[in-house]
Amino acid sequence: MSNESHISLPTELVALLRDARRIAVLTGAGVSAESGIPTFRDALTGYWSKFRPEELATPEAFAADPAKVARWYDERRRLCLACEPNAGHRALAAMQRHARAGGRRFELITQNIDRLHQAAGGDDVIELHGTLLAWRCTACGESCEERGPAFETYPPACVACGQARRPSVVWFGEVLPAEALQRAAEAAMACDVFLSIGTSGVVYPAAGLIDAALAGGARVVEINVEPTANSARYDFSIQGPAGVVLPMLAREMGVESEV
Ligand code: OAD
Repeated sequence: MSNESHISLPTELVALLRDARRIAVLTGAGVSAESGIPTFRDALTGYWSKFRPEELATPEAFAADPAKVARWYDERRRLCLACEPNAGHRALAAMQRHARAGGRRFELITQNIDRLHQAAGGDDVIELHGTLLAWRCTACGESCEERGPAFETYPPACVACGQARRPSVVWFGEVLPAEALQRAAEAAMACDVFLSIGTSGVVYPAAGLIDAALAGGARVVEINVEPTANSARYDFSIQGPAGVVLPMLAREMGVESEV
């Protein structure tokens, strides 16, 4: 794991962020990695190096074996509840507060379903892939937040009608929540600076937000521990852990953050 001494932040980047009237941030699993939540595609530790997404993260998988799928997501739900936001989540929340206090816009868009941005104080977070902390009924649609211990049955039953409940996440082959997607696209299109943090950038439509940002004339910035397939498209590609780079950036920007 690198520390600050290996990372240098271009002064042009700091100035760009300091002066931006509107910043849009897209985060992925890498932002929560330092909180102890596995990513998906990291070779040794990623979920998709151990499990097949088509057996767990599709409507067909749930229809074929609801108990198995619900149990796997419930284990992930409890892991998320046991994890704390890290310095990267806190720095982003502080940057958002700082921007808003200065009358500027700062939209936080995430593919993560762990709610750690919100736990760190992030406000009005746009959740593109839903959340693991809400489970909704497959029959009547009743949804409730679940912060308790493991479910007693898999899949858990709806309190209103007794039918099976599922996590309120987006599975492969499903459409994203329309309002979240529209807000994310608009933020990307209208921002001055677009930051992509801790995402491999291969899952659409989230991966297409950089195109909207570029079409809208934004400068684009990537923060990742390693180069991604898209690194060449970014004006700035900063290599380092989000939990180290983001507090550095916040500090350089003059943002007060308790990291
Ligand atoms: P991935 O696992 O595809 O990518 C995580 C990225 O984070 C990689 O590029 C890593 O190099 C980087 N990374 C790891 N640790 C980091 C750290 N400490 N700081 C910064 N970067 C770090 O995860 P996502 O891009 O989020 O969707 O995946 C997108 C979607 O694919 C997920 O939302 C999920 C998944 O399948 C669904 O389940 C629908």
